[in-house]
Amino acid sequence: MPETNKKVLILSVNDEDKDIVFRPADTLLGVLRGKLGLTGAKPGCLNGDCGACTVLVDGIPMKSCIMLAIEAEGHKVTTIEGLINTKTQASFIKHFAFQCGYCTPGFIMVCHSLAEKQPHADKAVIKEWMQSNICRCTSYQEIEEAVASILAEE
Ligand code: FES
Ligand code: FES
Repeated sequence: MPETNKKVLILSVNDEDKDIVFRPADTLLGVLRGKLGLTGAKPGCLNGDCGACTVLVDGIPMKSCIMLAIEAEGHKVTTIEGLINTKTQASFIKHFAFQCGYCTPGFIMVCHSLAEKQPHADKAVIKEWMQSNICRCTSYQEIEEAVASILAEE
């Protein structure tokens, strides 16, 4: 692609502003992983179904594989790397809510947002929020227990 199609984007990621040379068609997932080295958000289906690529945009879970990087300009992007040492992360470890771990960053992002937006969510609401993400190898029960334990602490 000719160099002239490249532009500079300023993204706020994990509370830091980053200048990024990008192409208009670049996805947010591609920029996070390829330009910023933030590989916690995972490429899975790449069509919005599995949730492995979930990040928060202004606190709302978004599938970064189907969002253009340019759409995130002016918004606050949080990735799994921004949630290190949070109680959300600790809860997934405590409840063994993962096996291979590929889906786990996406689930943690959704869980973190749910705890902030609906701290008193009941089981039905937890299930509804978790439907945005797919795990291929562990039980959803541990994941729901991890989420519920965070909400119970609120
Ligand atoms: S990789 Fe984005 S939803 Fe599956
Ligand atoms: S822990 Fe392996 S896909 Fe979820």
